[in-house]
Amino acid sequence: MEDLNRLEKEAKGEIAKTASDAVLTNIRTKWLGRKGRLTMVLRGLKDLPEEDRRRVGQEANRLKKTLEDLFEERRVEFREKERVAKEKRVDVTLPGRKMPIGHLHPLTRALREINSIFQSLGFSVVGGPEIETEWYNFDALNIPADHPARDMWDTFWLKTKDRKQKLLLRTHTSPVQIRYMKKHQPPFRIVIPGKVFRHEATDATHEMEFHQLEGLMVDKGISIAHFKHVIGHFFEKFFETKAKKIEVSLRPSFFPFTEPSFEVWISCIFCAPRATARRTSRKGCSVCKYSGGLEVAGAGMVHPTVFHNAGLNPKDVQGFAFGFGVERLVMMKYNIPDIRLFHSSDPRFLRQF
Ligand code: PHE
Repeated sequence: MEDLNRLEKEAKGEIAKTASDAVLTNIRTKWLGRKGRLTMVLRGLKDLPEEDRRRVGQEANRLKKTLEDLFEERRVEFREKERVAKEKRVDVTLPGRKMPIGHLHPLTRALREINSIFQSLGFSVVGGPEIETEWYNFDALNIPADHPARDMWDTFWLKTKDRKQKLLLRTHTSPVQIRYMKKHQPPFRIVIPGKVFRHEATDATHEMEFHQLEGLMVDKGISIAHFKHVIGHFFEKFFETKAKKIEVSLRPSFFPFTEPSFEVWISCIFCAPRATARRTSRKGCSVCKYSGGLEVAGAGMVHPTVFHNAGLNPKDVQGFAFGFGVERLVMMKYNIPDIRLFHSSDPRFLRQF
């Protein structure tokens, strides 16, 4: 019985110290195998005197069962450790997972693109305040006090106490024409990109806040021909029509700050790059609403009164001015159906650019 106690201690010690499944198997064989130490004890039982055989036999079998349980316990433990280690293993040969990275907003990209096209033609990019005075936004631009643009529903007027000048959120970028001309002597060529605000109902083609790009070129002897060339070049670059030439047509219009004034139309960039942009055309697609043409800007020759209000003599210089909605152009270029998508922050929209 003492021998059995010793054997138990020794075996348990070895099992506890074992560090791997392979070593455990060897130790198991050493104790419980065919010629294992405990197996030998069990075989030797028959040589014991009758009176001891029963007691020692019981004890030896209990020890056998104990050791078998211990071996099994540790085996399970090793298997589990191995499984966990396998799961955690880093396979350095796997290709890396790409992190999604952001990019500039489509509108920001378009604005930069537009600026750079005009810069390539020698235009400077300038800015002006989004909060304007009534004078710069309207009066200086020859917009009379009873003009509908001054209506409550078109203009966001700011509450101004004790101020001679009424303040508003600019309804167009044209006031920057005046600001610039008051400070600079011709000749000059500028574009003015910026936010404008209109107090009107929102729908697929109207937002209360959007962007315009204003253009102004002033020098001696500037004519409509200069304008037609500049604007045609711009649209060809912006719409990337490549080999196809865009045809520009000017239709009579009215703005208080230009004379004459035009609507600028281009041949449809999708269906009729060569067709004359005429409303009556039978050809067309859904983008140009089956007209073959797209209205893309308002423009005209700078009105003498505007030059005068900016401190320039209309007898000395001539100029053209134009303005267009930036969102509108981007919507045409990428066939975007709703202007409100620009402010939606919807990644399904943004990811497409
Ligand atoms: N400011 C005009 C608008 O908002 C556009 C325009 C600019 C027209 C310059 C003529 C010349 O509609």
